[in-house]
Amino acid sequence: MRYISNEEIQFTKGLEGVVSNSTQIGYVDGEAGKLYYRGYDVADLAEHSTYEETAYLLFYGKLPNQKELAAFSKKLASYRALPSDVLDRLVDMPCPCHPMSMLRTGVSLLECMDESCPIAEDLESKKEYGIRLIAQMATLTADIARHRENLPPIEPDPSLSHAANFLYMLNGKRGEPLAERVMDVALILHADHGMNASTFASMVVASTLSDLYSSVTAGIGSLKGPLHGGANERVIQMLKSLSSVEEAETFVERAISKKEKIMGFGHRVYKAYDPRAKIFQGYARELTELTGNDSLFAIARTIEKRVIEAYADKGILPNVDFYSGLIYHSLGIDGSIFTPIFAASRIAGWVARVIEYLEDNRLFRPRAIYQGPLDVPYVPIEERE
Ligand code: CMC
Repeated sequence: MRYISNEEIQFTKGLEGVVSNSTQIGYVDGEAGKLYYRGYDVADLAEHSTYEETAYLLFYGKLPNQKELAAFSKKLASYRALPSDVLDRLVDMPCPCHPMSMLRTGVSLLECMDESCPIAEDLESKKEYGIRLIAQMATLTADIARHRENLPPIEPDPSLSHAANFLYMLNGKRGEPLAERVMDVALILHADHGMNASTFASMVVASTLSDLYSSVTAGIGSLKGPLHGGANERVIQMLKSLSSVEEAETFVERAISKKEKIMGFGHRVYKAYDPRAKIFQGYARELTELTGNDSLFAIARTIEKRVIEAYADKGILPNVDFYSGLIYHSLGIDGSIFTPIFAASRIAGWVARVIEYLEDNRLFRPRAIYQGPLDVPYVPIEERE
């Protein structure tokens, strides 16, 4: 037997710092705590824009003019309704599985139940399926949420914006203007974020020239994990498990002393305050006050202050998932639906980056350091111990 000498080989665990491709879609400036979509500061988009404009920007590289936006919004509205057999099959599954698993399965069903077999390889078709998925994933998410409450699905209202319609499909009635605006901001802020794990997963699948639906289901599967998009659900579980500021102080002290990870903090790229968390913190304060959830906000602030005190020098600060859940919770949305909302927004970034990569595709195919033996002599089964 022999072993390979790996002494010369350098690698970073988790591909930290590794550059996998070049892009014009978005940039995370981790040192400055800034996030850009196509060069626009996400804080400006959150203040002035809408999810439809943002998705258009990510897809087409420019903000739409009024005519372009009207056409794009009309197209999204026309794609929102789901084929009824997709939902019927989805809710008929024997396992009452997590909404992210239902969403992942729902996206697969959307492909397989479509008589037009949407597997065309050209980029224009993939872009069109991507736009359709932006529309349909919001509907799927709302329908899944209602199914969990034993409520029938609500037909989309084509006169409403993407965010307003999502809340309408979720609740069966229009949201308050502030709720609709906050949902729009939440969708804008989650739409893209550099080479995060789910985007990378989508791109790896796309680079094999597989179909777009497979890329998107890979993205959903990756986003589900608690180190990624699944953190928002864990955060609200943590906050709700604490009944007072004093309990929060004890909890955070204990977690720090035991070196336990606290959900909603830390980021591979940001070493400054996540700009999305900053925006969400403001809305979370406002909404929790309005809805009588201010004690949860006080608990969150207590945890944040202590974590920053203990870990800021290591760059461990609140990330996007720390305050987003307080917003959704204040809007009456169940914790299990937080990550599907993330996915229903991030679909724009996944597809935009997949299409961009496919314009000059090369199969992703990294290597691993092999530390096992070579030339192991084969032993017939009857001679094995
Ligand atoms: N609480 C306490 N310590 C932490 C945390 C945290 N949330 N995050 C990282 N650390 C510590 C970690 O224990 C380690 O310490 P040491 O060097 O002493 O062993 C050090 O920081 C590096 O941690 P890491 O996990 O190797 O760092 P990473 O770059 O892989 O971390 C992360 C990125 C997001 C996985 C991590 O910060 C984490 O697990 N956070 C909690 C989960 C979370 O909130 N995820 C959402 C991420 S942002 C939105 C998204 O991507 O979806």
